[in-house]
Order: sequence, then structure tokens, then C-alpha cells
Amino acid sequence: MARRIHTLAGYIHEYQRSVLNPDDFWSQIAETFHWRKRWDKVLEWEFETPSVKWFLNGKLNITDNIFERFLYTKGDKPAIIWEPNDPEEPHKVISYKELYKQTCQFANALKAQGIQKGDRIIIYMPMVPEAAVAMLACARIGAVHSVVFAGFSANSLSDRINDCSAKMVLTSDGNFRGAKTIPIKDVVDEALESTSSVEKVIVYERTKTPVNMVPGRDIWWHDAIDGISTENTAETMDSEDMLFILYTSGSTGKPKGIVHTTGGYMVYTYYTFKNVFQYRDEDIYWCTADIGWITGHSYIVYGPMLNGATTLMFEGVPTHPHPGRFWEIVDKFKVNQFYTAPTAIRALEAFGNEPLQPYKLDSLKVLGTVGEPINEEAWHWYHDHVGKGRCPIVDTWWQTETGGILISPLAGITPTKPAYATLPLPGVQPIIVDNDGNELKGNSVEGNLCIKFPWPGMLRTTYGDHERCRQTYFSQYKGLYFTGDGVKRDEDGYYRILGRVDDVINVSGHRMGTAEVENAINEHPKVIESAVVGYPHPIKGQGIYAYAICDLSDRSEENLKKEIRLTVSKIIGPIAKPDKIQIVPGLPKTRSGKIMRRILRKIAVGEVDNFGDISTLLDPDVVEKIIEGKDTAS
Ligand code: WTA
Repeated sequence: MARRIHTLAGYIHEYQRSVLNPDDFWSQIAETFHWRKRWDKVLEWEFETPSVKWFLNGKLNITDNIFERFLYTKGDKPAIIWEPNDPEEPHKVISYKELYKQTCQFANALKAQGIQKGDRIIIYMPMVPEAAVAMLACARIGAVHSVVFAGFSANSLSDRINDCSAKMVLTSDGNFRGAKTIPIKDVVDEALESTSSVEKVIVYERTKTPVNMVPGRDIWWHDAIDGISTENTAETMDSEDMLFILYTSGSTGKPKGIVHTTGGYMVYTYYTFKNVFQYRDEDIYWCTADIGWITGHSYIVYGPMLNGATTLMFEGVPTHPHPGRFWEIVDKFKVNQFYTAPTAIRALEAFGNEPLQPYKLDSLKVLGTVGEPINEEAWHWYHDHVGKGRCPIVDTWWQTETGGILISPLAGITPTKPAYATLPLPGVQPIIVDNDGNELKGNSVEGNLCIKFPWPGMLRTTYGDHERCRQTYFSQYKGLYFTGDGVKRDEDGYYRILGRVDDVINVSGHRMGTAEVENAINEHPKVIESAVVGYPHPIKGQGIYAYAICDLSDRSEENLKKEIRLTVSKIIGPIAKPDKIQIVPGLPKTRSGKIMRRILRKIAVGEVDNFGDISTLLDPDVVEKIIEGKDTAS
């Protein structure tokens, strides 16, 4: 198989090659694909503006490279195995040939509804195969998809629709989540009240939840494809044409639309999937992420499918109808590679080993984690009880912005260490800097993680606001891409990610900006001001701790806290609800009005002595009062 690394020596060799001659290295991988016109130049870049282009003037379509490339050899191979929320409902197996037909047909249906190359389409759907079909159909005709996690609120959805002036929304009547059915079409209806760009909504029937179909705007999925041809010639795209936008939270303001383009993203997700998971042709691979996150894009849909892999999609939640559901699915389909998040591992570990007992789990070869730092305890439990000590764990570090995995072991090849993402993949050049931007050379150092050379899967811009991209990622340290993560490089040169060093909180692997949550809390009319920090949480990794100055004249503290949580849920979504709220008389601010979060973070974890220098505080007494009220946080 092309470009697969087999040994540690092979990895070291490929790594060196990728640094010494990146053009040769990446063009050899890109040659595996079908290009309608070959690129003129492999890479052009500078990190000032920034401007990064890969495979310049290459022409291709990413879905040609999933379907047409494999139809003769892999047409009958399962592309998607779909397991529904309810274990009593039959699962589905969809071959590459069948997925191809569905994709072509839906691509034609999109065109019939007036969609053209370059139009933006929002996908707000459950974890059903049609969600993957929707993404691939967009890619097929050159429409730009932006998947929004179906747990986000109407307000979050309309913000995203407006930011990219989406012309269409793809959704479903409802979403089965464990014992609940969430009427997501209603959320779309509400979101569309404050948007004007959307012309059509296509609704996939999943839950038979009653919905209100707006004449002229809304159309059922089954009606949209009725009588539509299953043959379609893919649009020719430039390497640097936009493939998708995915919104993610940062340290300031509203989420930004991370832009990924076609050629580089294709090459990068293909290469990293193959090598990190060491996928073999007959393997069944399962990533438990939702397609609303980057992990779902790169490692449920594009990466696996570009390798002709069988990718399992699960509609439900880990604990429904019982906490052994994941393991039941592993046995049912003889899953070989299993990729999940530390928060899921910790949540399942909390049920003890009993839920694992009925299952053999002997098909498993590789275990993966992503989304947040994994603690050693959870790592060992995963390794010993799920992998039975037989399966290497790939702790994969990467971001929405990076498009694919940057630092990770190669399964079975790189010796692992609990809680370490280990070594950079070929083509990835990390650098650690101190707060002044000085490089920390050698081993046994700790600092801010940056990347000094482009890789094909990296973001190109933030949609509609290139300056924001420069500001956020390329201005902190000159000439470097700044990740926002702290990192340690140990005595062996192994990388351990320490978590965010900016104002981003990672709750159950979901990124949330503190400012974003504060803005939502402040929407409550009785909240005067608030400050949000993260604190260690045994299952979620980090929890949200909110300090709020409130007017309590006409309601109880308990009721107000309930209302604040509802407000946040409505404005962002249930994932952003604060775990703890403390009503405070004031916030620690500097004379220039900046909230000293450092102090609030300490109070949240109960470290109430040594605050360091607080001489710049406007009102040092307020700190005492917050400490006194700490036990009222709930
Ligand atoms: C964190 C998810 C430690 C990190 C693919 C990063 C991790 C943020 C790991 C990106 C890991 C992701 N170990 N931390 N293996 N993987 N992170 O954009 O803080 O949802 O910056 O992308 O998650 O989150 P995002």
C-alpha cells in the first residue's frame, strides 16, 4: 500500500525526508490520487499575512478520489456501517457503490434546487448516513458545507448561517439521542427567523416527529431525490477551492469559520488516517465522534473513505440503553480500530468493569483518543480493560484548524507513554516557545506549542475575515502558527499536551470560549456582569465555573441559577451550561478594568492562599468576599 510506514526506523526516515524535502515528500503522496490536472507547484507560503497554498493549480474533485477511484476494486465493500440509536432497529450496511449512487443523486437534487459551485450549505443533522451523503454531495458539486453540531441552539445556528450567508439548510425532523427525541427541525425554523440568506431547507425524515413545512421553502429529502438521476459527473475544483467551513470557538467573541480547501486536506487526511491507525483493507474502523466536529469530518468521512475503508457511524450515545453499548457494538461488528474521546472513556470507566464483562472485544487492534488531554488513570483503564493490554493507544493531538492529526503515535510502531501524544507525524514541525517567543530548544522543556512549517491540511483563513485568522494564529509569535496549547517535551523528546493556555475551556472535548459563555450569561436581565473559568472535572476534563454579579431583589438564588443555565442553553446550547455558578458582590479587576482570571481560576480549585501579585487590583477586598462565598457555588 502506497505511503504506509511499517517500522520505527521507517518513521524516522520518512520524518527526516519530510523536513529536508517537503515538496518531494508530499508530492509523492499526492501522486496516489486522481488529478484532472496535475499541480504546477507543491507549496507556496508565508506565515505573515498568512498565505498558504498547496498543489497550486491542481484540478480535482475529492469525491472522484473516494468513488471513481475505488469502484472497480472496492465497489461492493461496505463504506458505511450504520448502527442506530435503538439497538432493536436494524443496522445498515452501505457499499461504496451504493454510497456513490446516493451521493450522485443527492448532488443532482441539490443542483435541481438551485445550488451552484461556491454556495454555502449548512448541515444540521443527526448521525445518519445521509449526513455523510450530504457532505459528499456538496463536495461533488463544489458547494461549501458547514456542518453545525445538532446540539447547538437556534441562536448559535443562525449566527453561523448569517456568518457564511448560507443558501440552504439540510436537516431532519428529529434526532434520537438515547431515550430522548430532539425536534431539530423546530430549531431550524427558529433560527431562520433571524436570517435572510436561506432559500431552501431539505428535511430528512428520521423520527417522524411532526414538523411545520413552510411552502416554497421546505422540501422533504425523499421528495427532493424522487425521480432524480443517480449519475453525476463531479465538478472540477481547484486545489485551493474551499471544501468546507467549520465553526469553532476561540478566546474572543463569536465562533469563527475555519476554512479548509480541497487538495491539501485530501492528501493530509488520507495520509494521516492510513498511518496513525494502520488501517488494513479488511478492517472495520469506528470513530465515535459526531460529524458536527472536525474529528467527524476528517476521521469518519474523508480520511477513511479516501482510503476505501469501512467506517462505522453510530447514531446514539455511549450509555443507552446500557453502559456497555460501545462494547456491544465493537463485538457486533468486530471493530478493529476504535477511536473515542477521553471524556467518554472516563464516563464509562465510572461504571466499573462490569459492563465490559459480557463482551469479548477480541477484534480490537488499535485504540485511539482525541479532543483533550487524557489522564494517566483513564489511559491505563482503556489500555488494560478495553484493549486487554494488547492494543496500542494512539493519543492523537490536533485541532479544527489543523484539519488532521499532527502529533500522535503510529499504531504499533511508535512506543507509547501514558498521556503522551508522543511524536510529530511526518511533515509536522513543532516548536516550543516561551511567552516572549524565544525557542525552547532541546528536551525537558515546557512552553507554548507552535508549528513552524505548513502542512497540507492546515486552515487557510477564517471565513470572511482573514485578519482575524492572522490575529488569532499568526501574530502572537512571529513567523509561527500558534496552537493555543501548552506542551512539555520530555527527556526522550516526547510531547505531552498540557491543555489550553488561552481563554478557551475544553469541556468534554468541546471547545468553548470563556467570553462566549460570559456573553450568554450576561443576556439574563438580572445578571450585571460575569466571569467564567475552567476547573478540573473528573469526567468532563474541565467544567465551567461562572462568577456572576446579579440583582437578586426579586428571586431566589436557586431560581436565578436555573434561569441562567437556561439562558446559556438557549443562546449556545446545553453543552455550554455552567457546572457551577457563584453569585458574587464584585469581580477582581485591575485598575484598567481587566478581570484577573488567574485569581478566579485559583479560587475555583480551592487554592485560596498564594495569589501572587495582586497589588494592581482595584479593590483587593472583593477577593476575600469571593473566597467567603465559595461554598455557595452550585
Ligand atoms: C485539545 C479536536 C490533548 C487541544 C481534534 C486542542 C488535545 C483542542 C488532544 C482542539 C490530545 C485535542 N491531547 N489535548 N490528544 N486533541 N486536544 O478543535 O487543547 O475540537 O487545542 O479539535 O483540543 O479541539 P478541536
